[in-house]
Amino acid sequence: MRLFIAIRFSEEILDTLLRAQEQLRRCGARGNYSAPENLHLTLVFIGESSDVLTLRRVIDRAAGAAFPLAVSGTGRFGDLWWAGVEKNPALEALAARLREGCKRAGFRIDEKPFRAHVTLARELKSETPPRANVPRTEMTVTRVSLMKSERLGGKLTYTEVYGRELA
Ligand code: 2AM
Repeated sequence: MRLFIAIRFSEEILDTLLRAQEQLRRCGARGNYSAPENLHLTLVFIGESSDVLTLRRVIDRAAGAAFPLAVSGTGRFGDLWWAGVEKNPALEALAARLREGCKRAGFRIDEKPFRAHVTLARELKSETPPRANVPRTEMTVTRVSLMKSERLGGKLTYTEVYGRELA
């Protein structure tokens, strides 16, 4: 199965992100919008693996204290539009511990530097430059999730296969 490690959002942050998607749509931007239930922040993309047991151990070892996180602003990688995540040493440290743990356990992890972002829409096309506003919205991160990604009835579906609470 296709796996990734992620942070799931509070209702308040989801509201902020949904409003930003609505603004992009109102600008006439067409594309592949992330479904509301799929909005998340990826910490490590694992790819194909069935070794949930090892990943659970990696996550348990990497998990530290709960910490605050804020989304703010938007940006793009080409035609992928994202909401930004405010610079956050605790988040970067958590992602680094998880990546290190995955590598030590033998998973092949992307060497590209971690750039925290929340994908709002992919393959976005628009006649005029679309605009969206993501006002700073904060939450406390209290859980790290191992997520499974699959197509069910043609719909991209993410399911938590393991969750670890942060103390
Ligand atoms: P993205 O949002 O920038 O596309 C599930 O696919 C999650 O893993 C997404 O958040 C996706 O990031 C991330 N991811 C990172 N590397 C990936 C890859 N090589 N293929 C697919 N998804 C990847």
